[in-house]
Amino acid sequence: MSKSGYVIEEILSANAIAARVAVLARNITDHFRDTEKLVVIGLLRGSFVFVADLVRGIDLAVEVDFLEVSSYGAAMESSREVRILKDLSGEIKGRDVLVVEDIVDTGHTLHHVLDMLQTRGPKRLEICALLDKPSRREVEIRATWTGFEIPDKFVVGYGVDYAQRDRNLPYIGTVRFTG
Ligand code: PRP
Repeated sequence: MSKSGYVIEEILSANAIAARVAVLARNITDHFRDTEKLVVIGLLRGSFVFVADLVRGIDLAVEVDFLEVSSYGAAMESSREVRILKDLSGEIKGRDVLVVEDIVDTGHTLHHVLDMLQTRGPKRLEICALLDKPSRREVEIRATWTGFEIPDKFVVGYGVDYAQRDRNLPYIGTVRFTG
């Protein structure tokens, strides 16, 4: 697909994503099979498409909640602090929790989010990330379940944006800038 100033080259088709999401959902269902109710926490905004597809494949009682954090940009890279923009609506104390993320890059976002959620005393806390760029990692984070490992390329689609565009693409593609 061609946009002004960049082209998007598909690397993961909608069908490939759907097939992988179905497997992840089955694994999550199996892992939490004895739960009373699973709290699925999507990190906004990038995870909203993944959460929507994933929860429809999970065969358990599920509560969906969202957390929005902002990671500072390059200018603040040294501190790498994460600020809560929208907190959870519900409690997670003593609950089974699944954090759903679209992409793990440096790992700082999940590192801070997990630290913060652990202080609230969940019973179990697992992570499902659709995309993982292990070559970019700065802090040790391993998702319990990962959809796809991808190279260090700028990607968009299936919830992931470039300057708040392209989240609505049904596939995932790499961005190549054309000047
Ligand atoms: C992206 C992505 C992750 C985070 C990963 O969020 O959704 O939350 O960056 O990066 P890290 O591993 O280096 O911390 P972004 O800040 O772009 O916000 P968005 O979810 O609203 O797109």
